[in-house]
Amino acid sequence: MTGLPMVVPAPELPARVRIHEVGARDGLQNEKSVVPTEVKAEFVHRLAAAGLTTIEATSFVHPKWVPQLADAEALFPMLGDLEGVALPVLVPNERGLERALALGVRRVAVFASATESFAQANLNRSVDASLTMFEPVVARARAEGAHVRGYLSMCFGDPWEEAVPIARVVRVAKALIDMGCDELSLGDTIGVATPGHVRALLVALNEQGVPTDAIGVHFHDTYGQALANTLAALQHGVSTVDASAGGLGGCPYAKSATGNLATEDLVWMLKGLGVDTGVDLGLLSATSAWMAGQLGRPSPSRTVRALSHQES
Ligand code: HMG
Ligand code: MG
Repeated sequence: MTGLPMVVPAPELPARVRIHEVGARDGLQNEKSVVPTEVKAEFVHRLAAAGLTTIEATSFVHPKWVPQLADAEALFPMLGDLEGVALPVLVPNERGLERALALGVRRVAVFASATESFAQANLNRSVDASLTMFEPVVARARAEGAHVRGYLSMCFGDPWEEAVPIARVVRVAKALIDMGCDELSLGDTIGVATPGHVRALLVALNEQGVPTDAIGVHFHDTYGQALANTLAALQHGVSTVDASAGGLGGCPYAKSATGNLATEDLVWMLKGLGVDTGVDLGLLSATSAWMAGQLGRPSPSRTVRALSHQES
């Protein structure tokens, strides 16, 4: 075994996928212990050295809401030497944007919800009130020349509500695009999506004028469906995929959310399919094994575990 899969290309898939790495934000926001700022900085540097070019660094949210990321002001300047790497951050409101812009942030993300329960739990306001909160954030960020991502959570299910109708997801997605978001990330916050559901949502968004090239996918892996869902999205033409190194992650305000799709599992599949990501799987997997050591527990990624066994 070489530590890489055999390559059998799938010509119908995008030739290249941009991985939006969320381990340092989505992953670490959910850790019980607060990871030291120096360890976070080393994590991001090692992710960049492994070839990741979009690395979500942190969040400028209320520190009481997410104490794990309260060191955003200390962390971001420690990443200033990373050239050619986009370092997006989450900003929920004008206060968050102000803090981010003061540090020279060039890419920000607002984060909406398709459901009322999660909007309330995560942002302390209704879906429409949160859209109203984002409007000046998106306008100001764009006026400053920053790239804006619009996350949309609970696109496929919500732990407190019945089924989430596709039409409801499309309404909020359209609102994010219409307010000026450059890109949309469809969040399966609690990992309940299945591939047919993914396809149906993508078709519905296209029908309402949201182009596939403005869409990224963000799957959590609670039910083991994240990779299958990703393949369905790739077959539809999506070429931006969120993943977290080592499968770290979850959401402190969504019970039952577990880690994101592990970046290593994604890279293994894409390498086998002949899809370019620019990522060195060995370096990435070693980074996640190192991070798992810092956190004191094994990585949930099957690929990280398989590659670690080969080494030992
Ligand atoms: P609020 O309590 O309604 O805030 O929280 P407020 O606007 O009423 O302000 C209250 C106080 O907080 C004020 O201070 C503000 O200045 C301060 P005071 O005047 O009382 O002294 N404040 C802030 N301080 C620092 N930075 C800020 C900030 N904003 C207000 N940005 C708020 C509303 C949005 C702030 C809060 O609900 C919050 O921070 N929520 C963040 C929750 C979060 O980060 N969740 C995880 C990310 S989402 C996710 O993981 C899902 C995703 O991965 C996709 C998926 O999987 O689906 C993206
Ligand atoms: Mg998430």
